[in-house]
Amino acid sequence: ESCILRISVIGCGYVGLVTGACFAEIGHQVTCTDNDDSKIVTLRAGKLPIYEPHLDALVARNISEGRLHFTSNAGEAVRSSEAVFICVGTPPLDNGDADLSAIDNVARMIATEGGGPKLVVEKSTVPAQTGQELKRALDVYSRKSGTNFTVASNPEFLREGTAVNDFLHPDRIVIGVDEPAAAKKLREIYAPILDKKFHCPAHDGKCPDSPPPAFVVTTVNSAELIKHASNSFLALKISFANSLADMCDQLGADVQEVTAAVGMDPRIGPQFLQAGLGFGGFCLPKDVQAFIRLAERVGIDFTLLKAVEQVNKQRIDLLFAKARKALWVLKGKKIALLGLAFKPNTDDIRFSPAIDAARRFLAEGANLHAYDPQAMEKTRKLLPEISFARNPYDLVNDADAAIIATEWDEFKHLDWKRVHNEMARPLVIDARNVLNPAEMKSLGFEYYSFGR
Ligand code: UGA
Repeated sequence: ESCILRISVIGCGYVGLVTGACFAEIGHQVTCTDNDDSKIVTLRAGKLPIYEPHLDALVARNISEGRLHFTSNAGEAVRSSEAVFICVGTPPLDNGDADLSAIDNVARMIATEGGGPKLVVEKSTVPAQTGQELKRALDVYSRKSGTNFTVASNPEFLREGTAVNDFLHPDRIVIGVDEPAAAKKLREIYAPILDKKFHCPAHDGKCPDSPPPAFVVTTVNSAELIKHASNSFLALKISFANSLADMCDQLGADVQEVTAAVGMDPRIGPQFLQAGLGFGGFCLPKDVQAFIRLAERVGIDFTLLKAVEQVNKQRIDLLFAKARKALWVLKGKKIALLGLAFKPNTDDIRFSPAIDAARRFLAEGANLHAYDPQAMEKTRKLLPEISFARNPYDLVNDADAAIIATEWDEFKHLDWKRVHNEMARPLVIDARNVLNPAEMKSLGFEYYSFGR
């Protein structure tokens, strides 16, 4: 039997919003809060501050059915709930460490305004031992009232672009607790997802036949490590594929043929072996960095991860070298950049390799034009010196080169014959390996990709 719990979610970023909306969707009473008032105003008006497929409909329905609430009064949100999910940002400091000041602020707020004992769950990605510090901070800040807080870790593995589905149909739910009662409460919260009994928005109301998620109970420290280890390992796979691509370029092999067959071994797996411009976004780069820093702090030299980072940084240099080789002089050339988001199906440009590439071409004096289906508004604020096009065909008109920097489906399905006619010079650098080299060559393109 599932029971309805009162939950508050602190932080309305990607993780917080998806968590709040999905908890409401499976039946709980959820109040979300954020210290950015403008976000709350936007959300209350039924709009989303971010683009994420399915999320708008989910938020709207749960608001109108009375399960999802937004308030800028954090104390009120916490007081109304028995479990608090901390989903605030942990951005990188200049030295690569995770900035945990937002978590500390939340601890103080919960302790002083929360109005009694709570289960406090960290969902934000944090280095191991943060839970211990959080528990200590809660105790210190509530010493006058002597309130007893329980701390748990519940790392989130959702991906941007498929966040709703990932949250509702995860492969595993990881719960780090130091007291069995906390695991029991979290089991209750997740019961509809574990039992696959809820109205499933992405599949016409019925849950798909995939196996139910594993419910993994560990210590708080282990749960925190599981999150950093997962993202670091994904990053490692990508950097491995990228180094392999460089080998293939030199040896005349095709990296996609190689990774496809290598990935058939279930011990390796086919995913996250897509070579190209490397990994970006607000998670992988900062988590790898924070994991390296955590290792250093405890006296471990995690050389392997340093190499992962280094390989990733070199992808931009490599793209730049390819462009320079093909175009000779870059200054004054019209470069058409297809894609700005750090990956498809998101408007997120944080730590986007496409943005890093854009900066390099701008610094070189190239006449940079760009198009992205979702991320132009955010990019315009960051790099107003780029000229933005309304569609890919306008973009490539009279261009000396087109560069694919994000693997949007739209780019795969362009009328490349038409693109050829529009361009001043039919030169394509496919930094995400999305097009077929033989087809591009037969259309008359000078075509470069990575490791093929
Ligand atoms: C990542 C993880 O995949 C999630 O499991 C995790 O929950 C999330 O971080 C987080 O910590 O919040 P996300 O940042 O949304 O999710 O993006 P990914 O789909 O992992 O892609 C990351 C980057 O790697 C993108 O720039 C993508 O283009 C790149 N990538 C991915 C490759 O270059 N090659 C691949 O084969 C796969």
